[in-house]
Parts: sequence; structure tokens; C-alpha cells
Amino acid sequence: MLIDCDPGVDDAIALLAAISRADLIGITTVNGNVGIEHTTHNALAIVQIAGVDVPVHRGAARPLLAPTMDAAYVHGATGLGSVDLPPLSRDIDSDDAVGFILDMARSVDDLQLVAVGPLTNIALALRRDPSLPSRLGGFTIMGGAAGPGNVTSTAEFNIWADPEAAAMVFNEFPMLTMVGLDVTHKVLLGAAERDRLRDAGTPASRLAAELLDHAVHVASEIRGWAGAPIHDASAVVAVLRPELFDGRSHPVSVEVNGVHTRGMTVVDQRIGGRDGTDEQPPNAHVLFDAQTDQVVTEIVDAVIELQAQG
Ligand code: BDR
Ligand code: CA
Repeated sequence: MLIDCDPGVDDAIALLAAISRADLIGITTVNGNVGIEHTTHNALAIVQIAGVDVPVHRGAARPLLAPTMDAAYVHGATGLGSVDLPPLSRDIDSDDAVGFILDMARSVDDLQLVAVGPLTNIALALRRDPSLPSRLGGFTIMGGAAGPGNVTSTAEFNIWADPEAAAMVFNEFPMLTMVGLDVTHKVLLGAAERDRLRDAGTPASRLAAELLDHAVHVASEIRGWAGAPIHDASAVVAVLRPELFDGRSHPVSVEVNGVHTRGMTVVDQRIGGRDGTDEQPPNAHVLFDAQTDQVVTEIVDAVIELQAQG
């Protein structure tokens, strides 16, 4: 698995789960929740706390065309709430995330590419090598929604933050798995999960507990929810345990022009078009539902098992 991400509280928990349960061959970073310097620093800190030596490659510092926005109001000014990170003991492996993604796609059989931030790096990779989709074992994104958005009434953050990149990705991948808000808003982690993580007492689980504490606080303040969606970790579990999820394949396009709908993923759920002429083939397997208790348990167990032997 290769994860393209913008850590980000939920990205961080996703990375810990992936380090524990997947063969994670690399991490690429992108501007998103916070700026590229912070997302890259955070990725390096997370692998360090996890005690592994996964390569980290820095990617795009800004969207293709859109102005640079962030989600610091959710993730905190540096992207990981108010967590104190240790001084870094290592640096990035390169600042060519796109080159790394393409090299790995060419050299690793059946690579699972998982993108849980804005799709800028993936669009740039497609531009550099349009054969990317055919070289992957699978491509999964956390992003989009068939129902309501979270940044605007129609748009989810990762798509909204770089709609032109997302449009290119949905246009050019013959098929991808879309782990959007329809399913991630059903997988909520709360105080019980935070306590399990804290009690496990490893560096990774203590970090995840602090991050979850931040996320639960934000979800309660912003939405009045008792639990927090840890979106990106659901995407990682969707790759590792697809049988825990339900979805359907649909044609999906990204709105780049709409006054009220820029950044929307338009999911065509019709059974048959008007007269057959407006039907497009499905290009996305859209997840709508999950065995939520099991997905939550997978996320927490994965983080706890990392470093559990010491
Ligand atoms: C997505 O946006 C970001 O804020 C999160 O990290 C997640 O990838 C949820 O809309
Ligand atoms: Ca993210």
C-alpha cells in the first residue's frame, strides 16, 4: 500500500493503522488540511513515533488551479490538534512525490494506492504518466459524497480543495473506490475508543488517543455528535477488509463550475438514463454502508497492535 495524505488528525490515525496492518511501502504528502510543510512534518513524526522507517516523499504545495484553502479550523494550526511532537530524527526521502508514486506503480505488483487528501499529486502523476491506472492493483480515495458535503452543502473537503485535480482523476481512472462521507459519517469513534487507545499505553496508541480526543471534541462542537468520523482510517480499512463495506458502482463526475456545487461529486444513481444516450459507464465503486462496529474495532485494534510487544 502507498498512502497519499495531508496529515491531518484522521490521516494520522489512518497511517498508524496502515503501518500496523498493511505492507506500507511509502507515504506521499500533499497540501490540504494544512500547508505542505506541516503535512510533511506530521507524516515524518508519525512514522517516527510508530518506530518504522517508511519512506516519506513531499508532494504538491498548492492545488492545480484553486486558491489554497485549509481545514485548520478542524485539525488545528499545525494539523495534529495540540499534540506535542518529538523533534524529527530524519528528513524526507525526496520532494518528488509524483515520481515516487509512478516508480512504485511500475515496480510493485498489485500496488494499492490510497489517496486521503486533495487529489493534486494523483492528477500530476496522471499528467506525467497517463498509464498510471493500468499499473495499479487498486485505487481508493477518501473523498466526495453522494449525499451532503461537509465544507459546503454539496462538497466534501478533499474534492473541494482541488476540484480540477479531482475532475481529472475521476475522468481518467476507469474505476476507483470512493470512500466518501456517505460511509465515513457512519463510522464514529468516541470516548470508549479513546480510552482503549490511551490504556494500551504504546507511543502510537497514546498519540492516537490524543488525536481522537481532539477529533471527538471538534465533532461535538461543530456537529453536536458524540463520536468523530475518522474518515481516512475508514478508507484504509476499506482496502484491507472490503467485506465490511457495502457499495455500488456508478458514474461519478466532479463539478468544477457550479456556483453552489463546485467540488461536488455528482453520483449518477439513476437506473437507466432518459433515453439511454446520457448514460455513462460506472467509473467509481461508491461505498454507502459498513459494518460500523467492526470497522471501528479494526481501526483501534490495528493501532494498539502496533508496537504492542514493546
Ligand atoms: C477529509 O478532509 C480532511 O479534512 C480529512 O483529513 C479527510 O481526508 C474529510 O472530508
Ligand atoms: Ca485527509
